[in-house]
Amino acid sequence: MSERDTSGRFQALYEISSAINSLEDASGLLERVMDIAMEHLSAERGFLLLRPEPSPAESAGFNVRVARNIAEESVGDARQVSTSVVNTVLSRGEPVLSIDAMDDARFDDSRSIVTQQIRSVACVPLRNRDRLMGAIYVDSRSSKGKFTQDSLEFLAAFANLAAIAIENARLYEDLRDENRRLRDEVKGMFAFEGIIGRNTGLKGVLSLAERVALTDVSVLIMGESGTGKELLAKAIHYSGARRNGPFIAVNCAAIPETLLESELFGHKKGTFTGALNDRKGLFESANGGSIFLDEIADISLPMQAKLLRVLQEREVRRVGEALPRPVDVRVISATNKEMQKEVEAGRFREDLYYRLNVVPLTIPPLRERRGDIPLLARHFLERAYKQHGGKPLQLSAGAMKRLMEYDWPGNVRELENTVERATVLADGAEIDSGDLGLPQFTTRTLFESGITLDEFERRLVLKTLDEVGGNRTRAAERLGVSVRWIQYRLKEWLE
Ligand SMILES: Nc1ncnc2c1ncn2[C@@H]1O[C@H](COP(=O)(O)OP(=O)(O)OP(=O)(O)O)[C@@H](O)[C@H]1O
Ligand SMILES: [Mg+2]
Repeated sequence: MSERDTSGRFQALYEISSAINSLEDASGLLERVMDIAMEHLSAERGFLLLRPEPSPAESAGFNVRVARNIAEESVGDARQVSTSVVNTVLSRGEPVLSIDAMDDARFDDSRSIVTQQIRSVACVPLRNRDRLMGAIYVDSRSSKGKFTQDSLEFLAAFANLAAIAIENARLYEDLRDENRRLRDEVKGMFAFEGIIGRNTGLKGVLSLAERVALTDVSVLIMGESGTGKELLAKAIHYSGARRNGPFIAVNCAAIPETLLESELFGHKKGTFTGALNDRKGLFESANGGSIFLDEIADISLPMQAKLLRVLQEREVRRVGEALPRPVDVRVISATNKEMQKEVEAGRFREDLYYRLNVVPLTIPPLRERRGDIPLLARHFLERAYKQHGGKPLQLSAGAMKRLMEYDWPGNVRELENTVERATVLADGAEIDSGDLGLPQFTTRTLFESGITLDEFERRLVLKTLDEVGGNRTRAAERLGVSVRWIQYRLKEWLE
């Protein structure tokens, strides 16, 4: 091999290894593979065959994916190309070279070699691990001896690299498709349609939120714990123009004060112990999408000042870096505290409050929208049934009454947990009030009008027992009675 040839072949191997690293789209890659092979063997014609993907049985046929100087449809035609050469490679999985095909005893029966006057043929398998993926074929009619043993070895080495590149590109495409599909699924999961309460208690908040989703303004979601603040934040993000961008949720209360700044804005390597690498913050990660700042009322005043600057300047400065970086992020924040009070008490900056609170959305607690309870309960029942299978369960009238009466201090999350637990505990086709595991009496039912003093006493004792986990001594202490009195009454009520 001449020195020129050697360097040309290194060049080809270099080009193909670059292609492997660049994870191109599969069809673009195939074109390049074919061109590099043609050019480096000075071939006249060529084509590349691949088994269709997703790869069915090994016996599946091969398709022409790229052809050069030959019509794709004539590749399977024995008068056009040497199908005997191709078939040998595909059946044995080994390279084939013919220096002078016309004089080659192996191809005496090959019509193409005679009719097309093919002189030089080289064909190598494309294999990934042990699987035959396809083949690269090149030929030349101009002169015999155009391809040498060296050409074949080069082509075989080249094909090994090309096979890896093709496999990578296919995997990459699969992942990309999968990613798109999952994104669409997520979008569907967090659509407004998934939020129960459209026709009842949440109506007003939801219709405002739907309109706000189409804009880019900052939203502050307020509501007690478990009312669905995060659910609403996601619905806003996934219904708006940023739906294809990331949704990054940050629980500000869960991150220690000392770390929050670098979590949100990133840091430069070596700025503090543990900063082993440069790292981008969550604001940068949310670029093009939304950041959800949960428990926003809990951040310190110095952090509030930094956050305010980010919102005003629309840029972040990583800890330890001088130059700010621009970010394009929509801010959705949430809290279960009363922000107005936090501001009045000087715990929250008023200017930041106004920036975050361009549109306030307040989700009412569940006890103020009891009409949602049956809808939500059925929704969670259906979901539990879909997830875990088993038998579809109904709520007994008593159970529904209990759900309606209960105060739900943990709001929808508590209802969700209660229903899920009940589906596991219920042994019939129906969930009874006992399966719910809810405290017997709440403040509301305790003072229900029209009950007798005796009934009031019963409810108060049972409620107190619930609150102290059934401990009679502690219940007696609270009620200012003796343990024996409690035991006596319980016995009486049970009879
Ligand atoms: N209207 C609703 N329809 C359906 N599911 C809901 C609704 N509201 C809340 N949920 C469900 O209740 C659970 C709690 O909701 P989420 O986490 O959004 O509440 P949160 O207000 O962020 O609570 P916390 O203040 O405790 O963080 C979630 O599983 C959510 O899917
Ligand atoms: Mg939350």
